[in-house]
Amino acid sequence: MARGGHPLFARVWARASVTLERGVARHRHELLAGLSGRVIEIGAGNGLGFAHYPEGVTGIVAVEPEGHLRRLAERAAERASVPIEVVDGVAERLPADDRSCDAAVTSLVLCSVPDQGAALAEIVRVLRPGGQLRFFEHVRATSALAYRVQRSLDATVWPVLAGGCHTARDTTAAIEHAGFVTERLTRLRYADTGISFPASPQILGTATRPPTTANPEAATSSP
Ligand SMILES: C[S@@+](CC[C@H](N)C(=O)[O-])C[C@H]1O[C@@H](n2cnc3c(N)ncnc32)[C@H](O)[C@@H]1O
Repeated sequence: MARGGHPLFARVWARASVTLERGVARHRHELLAGLSGRVIEIGAGNGLGFAHYPEGVTGIVAVEPEGHLRRLAERAAERASVPIEVVDGVAERLPADDRSCDAAVTSLVLCSVPDQGAALAEIVRVLRPGGQLRFFEHVRATSALAYRVQRSLDATVWPVLAGGCHTARDTTAAIEHAGFVTERLTRLRYADTGISFPASPQILGTATRPPTTANPEAATSSP
């Protein structure tokens, strides 16, 4: 996201996400269950995930580039039961030292980062060997027709209306291409809306950064 981000979408998301939470909260809970140690959350939005971090987490750096959402996240961090520092920054250049994090979390973010390959390479950089990427993301559809609809939306109105979001990204493949080993992957349909929607095919899972990453230079440009 460019500095300044998508202020209009940010305000829409700040409201819509609270409504969507009826369907999403249980997935956020599963996304974060069992985490421990130092965590970096990337694109934290208004901080709706913060309430779901378990006690074993000792500290969280929550990176959010958009000013309005970051301020809401700062307020959510004050109410959280684990220590959370909300910082300005982007996924493609994370404010964390090499191998300094036990886990990284992305939730509905890898669809929006301008360069998904660069973001995943950064996550590899900041995770310790054996560290986990926990992800909850919407992804390309499996049916050819739905995928075609997603691609045409991505080439026209969707990114403009939805804060740079793309519906047709193959994020499962991109995570593996970055060198992660997928440990757990659940495919969800209608997780947030309850109805079929271009962004409804979703994945929830865990991938591990191997001790030596097979493909550390895997950063490629996103569509
Ligand atoms: C749909 S919202 C999801 C927010 C939050 N993760 C959640 O689950 O509610 C997408 C988020 O990605 C953030 N974002 C977009 N581009 C980004 C980038 N390059 N680096 C980090 N975050 C980014 C946006 O500012 C926004 O907070």
